[in-house]
Amino acid sequence: MSVEDWTGAKVRIKEALSIVSVVEAYFPLRRSGKNFTALCPFHKEKTPSFTVFPESDTFRCFGCGKGGDIFTFVQEMERVSFPEAMEILARRAGISLEKKGSAPGRGLKSRLLSILEAAQDFYARSLKGPQGRPAREYLERRGLSRAVEAFGLGFAPPSWTALVEKLGAMGVEPDLLVKAGLAKKGDLGVHDYFRNRLMIPIRDALGRIVGFGGRVLDDSEPKYLNSPENTLFSKGKLLFGLHQARKSGADRFLVVEGYTDVMAAVLAGVKGVVAGLGTSFTADQARLLQRYGRGKVVLLFDGDQAGWKAAERALDLFVTTQMDVRVALLRDGTDPADLVRDRGGRALEEIADSARPALKVKLDLVFSRNDPGDPAGAAQAAREITDYLAKVPDPVRLEKMLQEAASRLGVSQEALAGALRAATRRDRRRRKGPAHPAPQGELLHKVRSLSAVEVQAQEEILWAVLHDLSLLGEVSPEVFRDPGCRRILEGIYKAVETMGEEGSFPWETLLDAVRDDQSLVDKIAYWRNVVPPAKDFSQWVKQNDKTLRGCSLKREIQALEEELRRAKEAGDRARVLRFRRGRYDLIRRLKLEFGMGMEE
Ligand code: CTP
Ligand code: MN
Repeated sequence: MSVEDWTGAKVRIKEALSIVSVVEAYFPLRRSGKNFTALCPFHKEKTPSFTVFPESDTFRCFGCGKGGDIFTFVQEMERVSFPEAMEILARRAGISLEKKGSAPGRGLKSRLLSILEAAQDFYARSLKGPQGRPAREYLERRGLSRAVEAFGLGFAPPSWTALVEKLGAMGVEPDLLVKAGLAKKGDLGVHDYFRNRLMIPIRDALGRIVGFGGRVLDDSEPKYLNSPENTLFSKGKLLFGLHQARKSGADRFLVVEGYTDVMAAVLAGVKGVVAGLGTSFTADQARLLQRYGRGKVVLLFDGDQAGWKAAERALDLFVTTQMDVRVALLRDGTDPADLVRDRGGRALEEIADSARPALKVKLDLVFSRNDPGDPAGAAQAAREITDYLAKVPDPVRLEKMLQEAASRLGVSQEALAGALRAATRRDRRRRKGPAHPAPQGELLHKVRSLSAVEVQAQEEILWAVLHDLSLLGEVSPEVFRDPGCRRILEGIYKAVETMGEEGSFPWETLLDAVRDDQSLVDKIAYWRNVVPPAKDFSQWVKQNDKTLRGCSLKREIQALEEELRRAKEAGDRARVLRFRRGRYDLIRRLKLEFGMGMEE
């Protein structure tokens, strides 16, 4: 069988076959209210606890715990792999698994996703098989056995070609395996990338497997081998556990350092836990936390030297966002996984609850290096603090932080504000661009009416996103100012939120979100049925996003000019100077970053 567009085929098969009809091909079911029951085929029992739920097209046995959809059911009944179950069900549904025409730019990506899914299936099976025994024992020792199901863990056998051969037999060309980051070209041909490792699937925000982290079972190096960077897998743009965390209903994200920390914490019932992928935090990751969270983030680090360093790097990054960021450091030598194992999930939550606000931690760090009692030390401390504060985007928050920092430094607020101005200039020089416009925030509320260009740009983004949900990650929600577009975007987020593992997009949820406005319903229906007129959707979205950000900036400048006029009238020279500088900075940025001028 050739592996082609599995995700799409999976959806079509599910639409064609109900769980009831699939199960009844094997044994009869008895109706029980809305559902159906039978004696469980997977374990011995005298009273039926095997239940089929037609509403969700799933089954579960309350006796042995086995459950899933039509594919899982056939896998278990026939003892076959996922692709084989697909084949069986496709035949029954009369659906061909051959590639059919797909939207431009999507073919390769969805094929790679299917291949990663097939690989996960292979690794999961080999973990359960005889070869997987050492890995199972390892997990047992670390108290992570339950993570096998919860995170879809697997085992890459010690062979050089196990995966290449297995997927090759299903028609996956070696070239695609290399592209998916699962195989490598060597002198003797293509061989498996991961060997003899515990395999941890890494998912994107939508829950799709985009790569793996492979851990050794002993102390050899490297401890982890991660999928190589490729179009799907980019360490700086992913957060391990995000998919689960954002659906958990937690009111904050808890950011830990390692895969095992996330797994142990989740198993102990802690919600909202995510980890980076072993690299320092990036702006993209901060954006993910902002997008999918409720504005609160607790960063947890080791209490050792490296932990403090990592904490400070993260603080310097997160200060540019609007989130409420807190930091907790664990006692030297323990990590969250140990803590949870020894003292339970509650202990970890207590530490998170006691996390200190970012500014306090930053000040601690600064004063640990510089003695504020000594004039030179105080000056250096002021410089470090104001370098940090220069990056705060919100003027009200900045004002508050300035107060607190001045009082801890033991100087007047005016003195520190002077240092801040110097820091802003340094920051500008460093970035070889204009500074954060000081008066930005207080002007933002003065929104003028939107131009047709802006509405169109927002619509085009939504259109593309509806044809390729992975583009959702490239959208900046704050530029969606048109109320209709905004509602549609929120509807999309809601729909994605409720989307099942299989990735079929719940159009009804989206339509329900805008049901009272027929013009929006019509727009969505049109977008759904017509492929966007762009060669490269991603490029199209980026371009429109840029247009929108440029337009927002322009509006800010207009508001600033109004403010400038008012300051002139009032004869407030200080304000006039400040606004002039701000306007100059913004106009330069508009030109440099967006290639736009103020004229049109
Ligand atoms: N990491 C990596 N490559 C390595 C070591 C670490 O990518 N060679 C990343 C992984 O994402 C890992 C994280 O850094 O999860 C933290 O590293 P560490 O604390 O060493 O690993 P843990 O996940 O805590 O794993 P364990 O508890 O099994 O040691
Ligand atoms: Mn660890």
